Amino acid sequence: MKLRKLNHLPSGRDEWLIPKEALISVAILETFNPESRLLIECGVLNGAYTLNILKNVLGSTAIGIDPFPNMSKLKARMLARMSGLKFDLLDSWNELNLSKQKASLIHIDGLHTEDAVYNDLVKATIHLHEGGVIVCDDYCQSIFPGVAIGYSKFILNFEYIPFLCTGSKAYICETRYHQSWLTRCTEALSMQSIIPWARHLGEGEDTPYVSMPLIKGYPTLLSWDYARASSTSDLLPVWPEQPPTNLIQLKD
Ligand SMILES: C[S@@+](CC[C@H](N)C(=O)[O-])C[C@H]1O[C@@H](n2cnc3c(N)ncnc32)[C@H](O)[C@@H]1O
Repeated sequence: MKLRKLNHLPSGRDEWLIPKEALISVAILETFNPESRLLIECGVLNGAYTLNILKNVLGSTAIGIDPFPNMSKLKARMLARMSGLKFDLLDSWNELNLSKQKASLIHIDGLHTEDAVYNDLVKATIHLHEGGVIVCDDYCQSIFPGVAIGYSKFILNFEYIPFLCTGSKAYICETRYHQSWLTRCTEALSMQSIIPWARHLGEGEDTPYVSMPLIKGYPTLLSWDYARASSTSDLLPVWPEQPPTNLIQLKD
């Protein structure tokens, strides 16, 4: 896994995606062979996350799951942005063909309630490629306590575990792949200097007195802050301004 400079970065008011998450998600999908680079995104809205994958990752294809309730104009605008890209939109998980290829990356960002997040995560396990990664958005935002509970319930009930937690997303894999994702991710973060990530007590001499965060006994990497973008950074030369999250934007 290697973090690299992206051709397309999220920008503008339609792009609800922190560039740091774009860099990490691309790096994860690029560890798979080009023919296995299928993304499923539950909750597409303006398509920021899916566009970031399709425009950056060679060979990638994407399936969006989103009923766009009362948002026909937004849906049409999103579909126009996807034109020419390998993208299909479905109303629900039930329309997914199980016999088709499984997804190496699944982004859960649909209805932000406890039950919906739990059910979406369970559905994701059925469609996940061997060794794939599920990304759960808003897993610990104070304005979405239901997401935190749905996500936690899933982690407690299933053999899945986060290997990286950022301020907005939890990166989850099957427990048996935890060590390999933890190692890959640690190496990728070690080879760059703009995305801050935490080292913990016992991991080195200059580490702060903060104990290693363990979930079900498994260590999790933490990358909480924004990237330190600077003009000298090749990885992220510009830190694009993010729009303020405004739920009114969800209206058509
Ligand atoms: C926070 S937005 C998604 C943002 C998007 N992932 C991005 O990168 O810009 C939530 C989306 O969930 C969708 N949604 C609502 N109910 C849903 C459901 N039952 N299943 C899947 N998606 C749903 C909404 O239509 C909306 O587009």
